[in-house]
Amino acid sequence: MARLTIEDLKKIKEKQHATFTLREGGYRAKVTVHMGTCGIAAGAREIMAALLDEIAQSKAEDIITTTSGCAGLCAREPMITVEVLNKPPVKYGDLTAEKLREIFKEHVLGGNPVEKYALVAGSETTY
Ligand code: FES
Repeated sequence: MARLTIEDLKKIKEKQHATFTLREGGYRAKVTVHMGTCGIAAGAREIMAALLDEIAQSKAEDIITTTSGCAGLCAREPMITVEVLNKPPVKYGDLTAEKLREIFKEHVLGGNPVEKYALVAGSETTY
């Protein structure tokens, strides 16, 4: 199982610093990895590691990563929520690192939700 390093956590903290909002911070997207007990047990750390790897590879500077607790759908973990400016947030579930990488390229970078992995759209807007 992939492990988060102190460096990974520092990167997350830096991205968090100053703002949680897309609009005020000039960010293109925010990705929340749900890391409640159920999420971690289901592999959320591996999802976070893959996400950080994709961000590093893309060299994108305008993507926020954050974590949250359980989203209330333990059976569908690991889950993420993707928020793109001026679009409804989309929750994805039953993730693997491969699915995460596909969602990152299509939705986070490209702005197009990946419907086949989406659980719900349109709630919990935080920007
Ligand atoms: S820990 Fe996930 S719903 Fe309770």
